[in-house]
Amino acid sequence: LCTQRASRRSCAAGRGQSLDENLGHPRGSKQPPAPGTRSAALYVHWPYCEKRCNYCNFNKYIPRTLDEGAMQKCLVKETTTLLKLRIPSEIDSVFFGGGTPSLASPHTVASVLETIAQTTHLPAKAEVTLEANPTSSQASRLTAFQGAGINRLSIGIQSLDNKELQLLGRTHSVSDALGTLEEARRVYPGRTSVDLMFGLPAQQVEPWLRQLQELLSLCDDHISLYQLTLERGTLLFAQVQQGTLPSPDPEAAAEMYQHGREILREAGFRQYEVSNFARNEALSTHNWTYWQGGQYIGVGPGAHGRFVPRGDGGSLREARIQTLEPDNWMKEVSMFGHGTRKRVSLSELELLEEVLALGLRTDTGITHQHWLQFEPQLSLWDVFGKAEEVRELQSQGLLLLDHRGLRCSWEGLAVLDTVLLRLLLQLQNAWENRPPPMLKVTESGAASQREDSR
Ligand SMILES: *[C@@H]1O[C@H](CO)[C@@H](O)[C@H](O)[C@H]1NC(C)=O
Ligand code: SF4
Repeated sequence: LCTQRASRRSCAAGRGQSLDENLGHPRGSKQPPAPGTRSAALYVHWPYCEKRCNYCNFNKYIPRTLDEGAMQKCLVKETTTLLKLRIPSEIDSVFFGGGTPSLASPHTVASVLETIAQTTHLPAKAEVTLEANPTSSQASRLTAFQGAGINRLSIGIQSLDNKELQLLGRTHSVSDALGTLEEARRVYPGRTSVDLMFGLPAQQVEPWLRQLQELLSLCDDHISLYQLTLERGTLLFAQVQQGTLPSPDPEAAAEMYQHGREILREAGFRQYEVSNFARNEALSTHNWTYWQGGQYIGVGPGAHGRFVPRGDGGSLREARIQTLEPDNWMKEVSMFGHGTRKRVSLSELELLEEVLALGLRTDTGITHQHWLQFEPQLSLWDVFGKAEEVRELQSQGLLLLDHRGLRCSWEGLAVLDTVLLRLLLQLQNAWENRPPPMLKVTESGAASQREDSR
């Protein structure tokens, strides 16, 4: 669970010099549909945990007493308010994250899902994921969550070594994790995901690869690999600082990542995103929406959302951030119907930067069609076609720009951070030097200046 604290970034360790003809983009494989502006994904944040993990500085709280009834009422209320503000014609995925949402009662989960179904359309095929912590997911609970409407489970296994689990401060053991996995596969066959961390202090490459092999023999069709990041304010950070633990070795972590993804590729897993691997088309559509710059609504303390403001032409985005601290958030929701702390409009350039940064995380990258949805005036060719930087990345075999669009090669995905940095600079450059807004012909036939906020 809450790999929030483990890096979603790639290991920028300077691999990928070798030219690989096999670019790892399976042809003809099905993509989830590109997100439209009428539908949206919905994220629900459950902020509570049993105990603080040693590496986590995420938005979570360890309550002494918890009034679940009040929390449930507020989640339902905010869901209603935010949906009514937006009125998406349907919600095509829901994700319960945290914190430890598997500590919430199935009844709470059910009431949020019922609210969505009543306020807008929640198709039966919509992906509805719950993040689960091995200790809190006894068999009966997994079935109860299914009854509540959950159809996909993401289990925070993190390690198959009890000493490492202790180091991380996880509350579960390896046998808890494997028990939960087995049960989850029975209840959610083909729709169970597992998280594994790498790059821990003192962790060695070979033993970690054996963990991955073991997990591979037991897991379902989806695996996420996350590199540990040391965050200020965590126990692990302090221990490394004081020298009671060695600092994680970035070279070793890069090797784990590189060998790990090779092992997964050989086992038939598609690396569809920097940290995510799926076989049998079991990609997460919720996360795919996010990487494709689709709309999403964030409910719960500290949740983030992004959507197209109503009545707008469809290209601009508003970011919405909910109040962080659960008690304050609850007060605001009771008073105003929602706990939005901040609303910001993304500028056109910020939106394009986001489209670029998120899209390049996926193996299919950014198609021309996708880009034009956000920027009809300046094509991918205009921005990147003539850039020296891009030509260099292409000749190193890290990047591709062709009739399909712009994407990282399999090698490039492993060094996304460096690739992205150069592309963002190029985008900013092209944006500053873009031609003035074009004259466009209105429906009545008269030419008028393009109306925008440039
Ligand atoms: C998917 O998205 C949710 C937020 O919407 C996030 O909490 C979760 O960690 C993401 N999972 C992966 C595998 O990136
Ligand atoms: S279970 Fe809670 S404390 Fe542990 S990593 Fe997840 S959010 Fe953080």
